[in-house]
Amino acid sequence: MCQVGQAGRFGLPLESNGMELLVTGGAGFIGANYVRRTLETQPGTEIMVLDKLTYAGNATNLAGVDAELVVGDICDAGLVQGLVDKADAVVHFAAESHNDNSLDNPRPFVDTNVMGTFTLLEAVRRTGKRFHHVSTDEVFGDLALDDPNRFTETTPYNPSSPYSATKAASDHLVRAWVRSFGLRATISNCSNNYGPYQHIEKFIPRQITNILDGRTPKLYGTGLQVRDWIHVDDHNDAINLILERGRLGETYIIGADNDHVNNLQVIRLICTLMGLDENAFEHVADRPGHDMRYAMNSTKLRQELGWEPRFTSADDGMRRGLAETIEWYRDNEAWWRPLKDAVEAKCAERGQ
Ligand code: NAD
Ligand code: TYD
Repeated sequence: MCQVGQAGRFGLPLESNGMELLVTGGAGFIGANYVRRTLETQPGTEIMVLDKLTYAGNATNLAGVDAELVVGDICDAGLVQGLVDKADAVVHFAAESHNDNSLDNPRPFVDTNVMGTFTLLEAVRRTGKRFHHVSTDEVFGDLALDDPNRFTETTPYNPSSPYSATKAASDHLVRAWVRSFGLRATISNCSNNYGPYQHIEKFIPRQITNILDGRTPKLYGTGLQVRDWIHVDDHNDAINLILERGRLGETYIIGADNDHVNNLQVIRLICTLMGLDENAFEHVADRPGHDMRYAMNSTKLRQELGWEPRFTSADDGMRRGLAETIEWYRDNEAWWRPLKDAVEAKCAERGQ
């Protein structure tokens, strides 16, 4: 089932062969950072972005970037086929990505995460192009707080929410297309990301912009939940390593060893870094079915491909990464300001 990646053109660094990448969801948080980081670290790469520009996508995330933006839906088979035909490889980020939205209305999650991935896989199958599927640790469900284990590539799938269930479904489709049709694909499952351009509905940017806006930061439930936070650039560097040198058919776990930090500690750190008392937040209604703990074992990625995160917990990397992220939101109020009232109104409806 598995082939060695360096047999193909992806054994070479991207810059050495002027690779043309199709990046789905490249106007969203991680995708836009991926486009920026790839053009910076792999000059000579050509990038086409396919993005529907949902509420989560923003064309200005790619402002000043030398990439083509095609506005369209990954479920549009004709459009997708035409773009896949032109590309050397596809990096698939596009998704409905917010758990709370998936509890309010699961349907777009099934459409984009399942049918959209299916549509891409079929286009890739017809052409034999290289495919990398960007996925999440949430497909594994959660761990108890006192469970010493971390997720590995062989952890059984056990998703909790419509978001994670549809991402799990998409991972299974990719694996089946590899096994049944010999698709030249890899999968990565990463933990929670933070960094610039993240939609302010998500935990960290919501709290930063709450403080910048004079609102009180909001912690769901007890805040004892653990997320294995990783800086978005570390995630994207790992994706490019996997794309270039990963073994075809394989899955790689990506995580930066932050699985000892709970939401309460993160919100306190944000308050402190922004000059408030560490307890200047309020507890709000908990999320139904709230996953308790995610923890990543990225040994395979580190040993096989030599990946190391730059923002590690060992050198207080999360504090450094958060401080930079806070500065970005401080400097880019025009980016988040138009979203703020609507995000907070929606949270208020849920008592959050
Ligand atoms: P995001 O919500 O910020 O961005 C998603 C992008 O996809 C948006 O630009 C949106 O317009 C686009 N999109 C949505 N539906 C589309 C469709 N039908 N056709 C074309 N484009 C569409 O999400 P993100 O946080 O950047 O996540 C990107 C990927 O990384 C997702 O697959 C997600 O599951 C995965 N992931 C996210 C995290 C995280 O912490 N955010 C962690 C691990 C994995
Ligand atoms: P989130 O950023 O939505 O990511 P995910 O659901 O993929 O983990 O939430 C991260 C954690 O923060 C999660 O445990 C829920 C919690 N949370 C809050 O405490 N307050 C908030 O305002 C939000 C949005 C999330």
